[in-house]
Amino acid sequence: MPKVTITTDNLTVEVKKNYPLIDMCEDYDTSILFGCRDGACGACMIRVKEGMENLSPMGEDERDFLETMAAEADERLACQCKVKGDVVLEVSE
Ligand code: FES
Repeated sequence: MPKVTITTDNLTVEVKKNYPLIDMCEDYDTSILFGCRDGACGACMIRVKEGMENLSPMGEDERDFLETMAAEADERLACQCKVKGDVVLEVSE
């Protein structure tokens, strides 16, 4: 099972493959915050320290939004990600 580590919370958990990251964050009450839950507010921005390739690919809407926010290449919106393999994440400041 894929392992998700959130360094900000000092937490590592195993989840089912393709499990939505937002559900995992809510299951474990992590410090990743959510607002719209639909890729439109940016509240859930995360930095992917390892395993970017193990998150579901970025859709066009997420890409457009991150561009608007001038996000860096290692940033994603947690509400738009499903977990496909091991990842290490931190809350984006
Ligand atoms: S919760 Fe709004 S963009 Fe993810």
